[in-house]
Amino acid sequence: MKPIGVFDSGVGGLSVLAALRAELPHERFVYFADTAYAPYGERGDAYVIERSRKVTEQLIAEHGIKALVVACNTATTAAIHLLRAEHPALPIVGLEPALKPAVATSRTGRISVMATRGTLASAKYAALRDSFAGSADVRAVPCDGLVKAIEGFDEEAISLLCARYMAQAGPFGDTAGQVDTVVLGCTHYPLVKNELQRHAPPALRFIDTGAPVAQQTRRVLASLNRLADGEGGLRLQSSGDHALLEAAAARWLARSPSPQGTTASAA
Ligand code: DGL
Repeated sequence: MKPIGVFDSGVGGLSVLAALRAELPHERFVYFADTAYAPYGERGDAYVIERSRKVTEQLIAEHGIKALVVACNTATTAAIHLLRAEHPALPIVGLEPALKPAVATSRTGRISVMATRGTLASAKYAALRDSFAGSADVRAVPCDGLVKAIEGFDEEAISLLCARYMAQAGPFGDTAGQVDTVVLGCTHYPLVKNELQRHAPPALRFIDTGAPVAQQTRRVLASLNRLADGEGGLRLQSSGDHALLEAAAARWLARSPSPQGTTASAA
């Protein structure tokens, strides 16, 4: 059985990969971090489209992937429709900020969406937000610089930026006019959820898309009869520093050594 390709601009998609491996333990995964070209979120559509195309083509050429998970909100909003048109035989699962479950569970009807500037400026996000107009008050919080800080393991910047953007996302609480739900609309942000939580009351709900994306991937593979029943495995690839990706996987994925080993490569 061929592997499933998963990519992000960097280490953020590891938050999705963790959910994928839990949901699909018999699958082999190739995770591609486009670190040399990260971050995507403040660079505009043309750049993100070009990188998404290149990474997808590399995953197909080198690994013959049987499915692709775009583990990046920014790349999904900018490029998934093009990737699907260019690779019609390849099942492609993407993700978008989880507004639907947030609206369904919010009691105050006030929700903040933390995401990259690119995601929040996209037509796809505008359509998503507008579809909930009238049922919730949704505030966008573009978190410039946070992806870069996470990619660089820069604890000081992470702490400063989490404090800044949580202040913009509030005021939090359970009474009318207060925000009771925060959507993590960038796959990097669940990696610093503990830091975000420091600036919130314990009852604040954070919603991310790892688990639903993993379930959707299972449904898609099952419908095509492409589910594997083997031992499972993981290969890590980066367009940048491979050691950094290994360190991130060890830290955020609690990754145990893979029987298949790892490879480094430039896209
Ligand atoms: N993890 C990516 C996302 O979900 C983004 C980031 C970036 O490179 O800015 O949007």
